[in-house]
Amino acid sequence: MLMESTQLTQFGGKRVLITGGLGMIGSSIAQALVPAGADVILVDAFLEKYGANRANLEGIADKPNCRVNVADIRDAAAMAELVKGQDYIFNLAGQVDHNSSLDDPLLDLDINYRAHVTLLEACLRNNRDVKIFHAGSRLQYGKVHYNPVDEHHPREPLTPYATNKNAAENYYRYCHNRFGLRTVMFRIANPYGPRCQIKHNKYGMVNYFIRKALDNEEITVFGDGSQIRDFIYIDDLVDAFLKVALNERTSGEVYNVGSGNGISFKTMAETIVRAVGSGTVKHIPWPENYVNVETGDYVSNIGKLRDHTGWTPSTPFEEGVRRTVEYYRDPAVRARYLPPAKP
Ligand SMILES: NC(=O)c1ccc[n+]([C@@H]2O[C@H](COP(=O)([O-])OP(=O)(O)OC[C@H]3O[C@@H](n4cnc5c(N)ncnc54)[C@H](O)[C@@H]3O)[C@@H](O)[C@H]2O)c1
Repeated sequence: MLMESTQLTQFGGKRVLITGGLGMIGSSIAQALVPAGADVILVDAFLEKYGANRANLEGIADKPNCRVNVADIRDAAAMAELVKGQDYIFNLAGQVDHNSSLDDPLLDLDINYRAHVTLLEACLRNNRDVKIFHAGSRLQYGKVHYNPVDEHHPREPLTPYATNKNAAENYYRYCHNRFGLRTVMFRIANPYGPRCQIKHNKYGMVNYFIRKALDNEEITVFGDGSQIRDFIYIDDLVDAFLKVALNERTSGEVYNVGSGNGISFKTMAETIVRAVGSGTVKHIPWPENYVNVETGDYVSNIGKLRDHTGWTPSTPFEEGVRRTVEYYRDPAVRARYLPPAKP
């Protein structure tokens, strides 16, 4: 659940830059901050494989305090200007697909590490008062040694995506420790909810499965589906960003952000089919080589974030799925998230 409107008003008049602002997480933060009166600039390069979508700005796109700037975070000159005068930077732009980072590690390096160094250096030169967030991933831990995973768990990345997320996180920490920049690093579990792309299954599995079920198709689950994941509903994730933004003790800290609950893939798929009322679940063998990137069961230990800020996720998985299904059930809405049919 999103924070009380009394707390949200603290963002009134604040200048906020959201990179990746047309994607799921960035646009959801904007959906909270624009009505709260923040002056929001959404930066996005509209790269095809990811989730940028004008539909995500429904209800806020025409507001004078919501502006879209089509730019790439790899563009140092553009970033140097955009960071000026901002109170907060929610840095969500990313190469989001960890499997495809195996095929193109240099693209991942450029977007998920190099561009962040560029952006942080721009802040050091042009805006040392900003508070800036890194959107890392639970994949930074790699193979899971124990559950629930706390922030001290070893980080042994299995993909270039996870390696570069770790490197970027380290750079945010360095900028805090060396220059006092107010950086915060998140390691996010598996987010789902309205505004996630549903055009492919490279990331955002819950949303992709909901699309399959709505189309009355088969949902395929690897093996017996007993692998455990931590699915966090988008409103709870946005709430974490906003609570941390307002809390001064969070600067320089790294936080796991998840639901704190483990749910098996099998239960996840069956919950979706039940909520949608159509679709079927089919178990298939694990693809060859997949074992190399499989982390094992994962559940976030969210105690640190709860202790520092009072944040606690409040959306049970069944409820989050119900709200997400409600969002995409209308075929006209769904169509806005799918590429047009080829002639
Ligand atoms: N979705 C997940 O499973 C997940 C999990 C953990 C962390 N994260 C991280 O959270 C962030 C946001 O992810 P999301 O779920 O909202 O994905 P998304 O695909 O919905 O949004 C990402 C946005 O970034 C934009 N983008 C990509 N490269 C860019 C660039 N070079 N310059 C400007 N814009 C660019 C895309 O166009 C897209 O709009 C990413 O950094 C991602 O790695 C996501």
